[in-house]
Amino acid sequence: MKISPKMKKALNDQIALESSAANSYLAMASWCEVTGYQGAADFFYAQSDEEKTHMLKIVHYLNDIGAVATIPAIKAPVSSYKSLEGLIKTALKNEQAVTKAIHKMVEIAQKEKDHGTYAFLEWFVNEQVQEETKFETILQKFDLLGRDKLGINEIDKVLAADAAAPEPAA
Ligand code: FEO
Repeated sequence: MKISPKMKKALNDQIALESSAANSYLAMASWCEVTGYQGAADFFYAQSDEEKTHMLKIVHYLNDIGAVATIPAIKAPVSSYKSLEGLIKTALKNEQAVTKAIHKMVEIAQKEKDHGTYAFLEWFVNEQVQEETKFETILQKFDLLGRDKLGINEIDKVLAADAAAPEPAA
């Protein structure tokens, strides 16, 4: 299967974006760990692994169709946060940026009648709906459970439970 140079560039850019998300979540996990939010740390370590699988999906797709993936250099992520809530807000923004990029690729695939890439991207479209909902739901918890020490501790437990839950098969 042959894809256009534009589609190939967009997919390679997405490898960089997913890789950067993996790195950013790793930094968030590390910050949570040293700050004493162990549940949130477990959650973000798992989230970082998930992003790596997203990146690999695209690497394999490009290589499988003979377009050849480019493995990018990644900038150092932000490593310090003012609060857990601020950190989750940043994570949601990251996901919204990823969603935008995926939707752009879908539009390119549609325009170019690249049905193979269009079908490949469907998984990512659905995944992004879940990812955004996940972070929005966590953010709501700050209103529901509070921002004091007890509230944050409860939110940390919610995140621990999420990290321990088995991931649906990708
Ligand atoms: Fe792979 Fe959370 O975007």
